[in-house]
Amino acid sequence: MKDIILTGDRPTGKLHLGHYVGSLKRRVLMQNSGEFDKIFIMVADAQALTDNADDINKVRNNISEVALDYLSCGLDPNKSTIFIQSLIPELCELTFYYMNLVTVSRLQRNPTVKNEIQLRGFKQSIPTGFFTYPISQAADITAFKANVVPVGEDQLPMIEQTREIVRSFNSLYKEVLVEPQAVLPENELCARLPGLDGAAKMSKSLGNCIYISDSEKDIKKKVQSMFTDPTHLRVEDPGHTEGNAVFTYLDAFSKEEHFSAFLPQYANLDELKAHYRRGGLGDGTVKKFLNEILQNELRPIREKREVFAKDLGEVFNILKKGSEVAQSVAAQTLDEVKSAMGINYFKDNLLK
Ligand code: TRP
Repeated sequence: MKDIILTGDRPTGKLHLGHYVGSLKRRVLMQNSGEFDKIFIMVADAQALTDNADDINKVRNNISEVALDYLSCGLDPNKSTIFIQSLIPELCELTFYYMNLVTVSRLQRNPTVKNEIQLRGFKQSIPTGFFTYPISQAADITAFKANVVPVGEDQLPMIEQTREIVRSFNSLYKEVLVEPQAVLPENELCARLPGLDGAAKMSKSLGNCIYISDSEKDIKKKVQSMFTDPTHLRVEDPGHTEGNAVFTYLDAFSKEEHFSAFLPQYANLDELKAHYRRGGLGDGTVKKFLNEILQNELRPIREKREVFAKDLGEVFNILKKGSEVAQSVAAQTLDEVKSAMGINYFKDNLLK
């Protein structure tokens, strides 16, 4: 069997550091490993519209932002097919047929949908498109016969729902669809980077993000404003490193070479933590160190982003070409799906 990756993001904003450590970095590694036959990366604009029908411009304007984030982080159109969901009408057709394989009560039990309905305060006014988006996500995945779907933990119920649809389809009609496997971030730290305010998750709606595209000045300001340990009032006080966002970020980003380059008084993070716990180490020093590390990591990405941003025509070309490639793959799958269902009437001579 071929190893095929499909994953994507809703274009509702620029991507942030949580996306970067939780998924983008991993995707680029997978892309460059050469272990995968095909890689599809989708800007999920149609899915973003399921809860933004009244704000089309937000979704539209963020397509290029997300594409710029992809390209600047190292997704390479020569190795990965980067495309826009709504340019693939076959996905709607697949969704329409898959809808008959899923009950309303099954959707109501989907934990991600349940949670998002609550978060968005839909109550009794859930848009039907939003309610059924797990089925459309199954179409996204199966259209490309993806067996590997790198996603965050919150997406696991989506992959499970897809697997169920694949099993129903294959047993009712014919074995044409592939059951996907979710691939989660390697460690918990990467799966859930806390917000600058120490909240459980970095999230656009909470306004506690560092964006991949943030300027040097913004990153510095944001790091300085970060939540630390509220009991660490004076430099001499002993401090806590657990639940201290600055140290969580250091856990996620710092390497030994950063110490020799930016903070040679300490050999490694353990030594730095020990000093903080003992007392006598100020937040300012730790934040300054974190700032150096983040600047070092994000500078080359930002510079690459600026180059691509000057040539948006080329970025759109990449998306257009990628969408053409993706469309022809999805069309092939749709054709197989319709034949399996016995509704490819004139191609398979089924009408009597
Ligand atoms: N639901 C994903 C998110 O909110 C985006 C997405 C849409 C996706 N279709 C997908 C992810 C298919 C993986 C596979 O981020």
